Amino acid sequence: MNVSNIRLTYKKGALNEEDAGSDPFALLEKWLQNAIESEVNEPTAMVLSTINAEGVPDSRVVLLKGLESNKLLFFTNYLSDKGLHILHNPGVSVLFFWPELERQIRIQGIASKISQEESEQYFNSRPLESRVGAIISPQSQVIENREFLEKSFSSLLDKSISQNLEKPAHWGGYSIVMNKIEFWQGRPGRLHDRIRFRQENNNWIRERLAP
Ligand SMILES: Cc1cc2nc3c(=O)[nH]c(=O)nc-3n(C[C@H](O)[C@H](O)[C@H](O)COP(=O)(O)O)c2cc1C
Repeated sequence: MNVSNIRLTYKKGALNEEDAGSDPFALLEKWLQNAIESEVNEPTAMVLSTINAEGVPDSRVVLLKGLESNKLLFFTNYLSDKGLHILHNPGVSVLFFWPELERQIRIQGIASKISQEESEQYFNSRPLESRVGAIISPQSQVIENREFLEKSFSSLLDKSISQNLEKPAHWGGYSIVMNKIEFWQGRPGRLHDRIRFRQENNNWIRERLAP
């Protein structure tokens, strides 16, 4: 398969120091808002990378469910692969890529579980099918077949008519405290703009990186 000729010229925007400002969280919020307003597909989808106990990295997409000053919030199964990786090593990286805007944001941070109460609040706001799915799916475990899932799903869905569905203890949110954020805007001739913010002695240092 020859893909070497697939190549785009990026010309949708630019990122200069003045636009970047001095507050990386304000810029992150602005770019996220731009992505939502531009109606890109899944604007809140982010690639979350973790490291397993053997030091091997692993990545998958999760949905951002909150952005609170220096924290990103997402929800998952605490016993999934990513949950076990974070237990072992809370250092994670997050990547947003919005091809329609020719923008990428690279983030490093430290993940920790949010409180059960906060997770319950979000769990209870989810559609019934999503709550049932979260309860019955042993995320990341090997299962016999699809039927296993469908049977457990419909059996719990039937029961949910007469009983309240409680958030299982193994499902909840993580917040990621960000300590490094790089904004990338594609430019013509591969002279892309890269502005990175990193924390040093509780201050944010802004630097321009070569593309
Ligand atoms: C668009 C998209 C959104 C997703 N959102 C989530 C999410 O918010 N939480 C989650 O646990 N998995 C989500 N997934 C599934 C994960 O990518 C992954 O398959 C699952 O979490 C198991 O990952 P793990 O085995 O590495 O723990 C999403 C997948 C896609 C493609």
